[in-house]
Amino acid sequence: MNDVSSKRVILAVDDNAGNLRLIDETLRDKYKVHTAPSGEWAMSFLQKKIPDLILLDIRMPGMNGYEFINKLKSNPELEEIPVIFLTASEFSHDEAMAFQAGAADYIKKPIVPDVVTARVDLQLELGLYRQNLEHLVVERTKRLQKTEDCILSLLANVSGYRDQETGAHVRRTTGYVEVLVNVLQEAHLPDADYYISNDYGVDIIKSAKLHDIGKVAIPDGILLKPGKLDFDEFEEMKLHTVKGAAMIDDAILELEDDSFLRVAREIVIGHHEKWNGKGYPAGIKEKEIPMSARLMAIADVYDALISKRPYKEPFSHEKAVEILFNDSGTHFDPVVLEVARDYISKFDEIAKVYAD
Ligand code: C2E
Ligand code: SIN
Ligand code: SIN
Ligand code: FE
Ligand code: FE
Repeated sequence: MNDVSSKRVILAVDDNAGNLRLIDETLRDKYKVHTAPSGEWAMSFLQKKIPDLILLDIRMPGMNGYEFINKLKSNPELEEIPVIFLTASEFSHDEAMAFQAGAADYIKKPIVPDVVTARVDLQLELGLYRQNLEHLVVERTKRLQKTEDCILSLLANVSGYRDQETGAHVRRTTGYVEVLVNVLQEAHLPDADYYISNDYGVDIIKSAKLHDIGKVAIPDGILLKPGKLDFDEFEEMKLHTVKGAAMIDDAILELEDDSFLRVAREIVIGHHEKWNGKGYPAGIKEKEIPMSARLMAIADVYDALISKRPYKEPFSHEKAVEILFNDSGTHFDPVVLEVARDYISKFDEIAKVYAD
């Protein structure tokens, strides 16, 4: 931000030396004023110094004011500089043209010192105000982001509390999903279905930790059963997908911009669907299953396989990978697994970093 001791810089461009002198005398107490007798002169000045505001005459020999502002607006380094046009009253359409060309304001000639001062002050204040607002928006957005992340972690902890899912499990599955997202983003597959935008990728990675949130609604007797579930128990267990989705639906109702929870919902309800349509709860198949849920299925099963569960002993990384690829095209999206083949060792690295 400019402090009062460093004067802000005004560039005045006019072919009329009398106008330039008058502007300089009017503004120089308050501002650092540079003058240019032509558009060309002003352009070469801009290569050395970026002013805070430009006062620009329209009719000049050589480059006129419109040509000058067009050049300015097509240069990303200069386009933000506010321009006030100096318009001659005999050309009244100049005022409309000035705004069309991107001028911030115009001052009618002949030049009246108090008017020049007031208009210049106002433009510079508006600029500061806008900068402050932009800064505020950036800060608020960061805060909101942090709050979202915090709530997600809280929910993930709640969902893992009862079945001894550790923070390590959450970090592992998030890690595998991140690997899969990155691998797909770098593969640039021609099939648009496999395109993951940056926003979608971030939301998938953030939401992964919520995939089993619905398990909080599953009774201990089933959730923690040391042996195999019977048919009815497994039917009940399967409901963790729809119960989780219902919890998110309640939350989404309250939100206008629900993007990250929408992705969380896809994952929560879809992570036990299978490529061949034999999964649950909906029995949808192939590309009907959202990409987020297809990636989650791979990450979730890999982690279930290498982990000890109340009902099973852990498998080795090699055995787990073998099972994943055996089920490619039946349980899992074969395209994703093929693209991930050379990177699957990263799963093992992640598992070792976040061991229980
Ligand atoms: P989970 O333990 O996290 O397992 C997630 C998924 O990993 C399972 O989804 C399954 O697709 C895969 N998976 C887990 N263990 C094995 C395995 O030994 N071999 C193979 N090939 N795949 C495995 P699924 O089957 O829909 O189960 C969902 C959840 O239901 C499980 O999450 C677990 O919490 C529970 N569950 C499933 N079967 C049993 C069981 O026999 N006993 C108990 N107590 N819980 C079970
Ligand atoms: C002038 O004051 O420079 C003449 C009128 C104009 O250029 O708009
Ligand atoms: C877990 O991931 O440990 C819970 C089981 C599931 O993924 O359904
Ligand atoms: Fe699950
Ligand atoms: Fe899980």
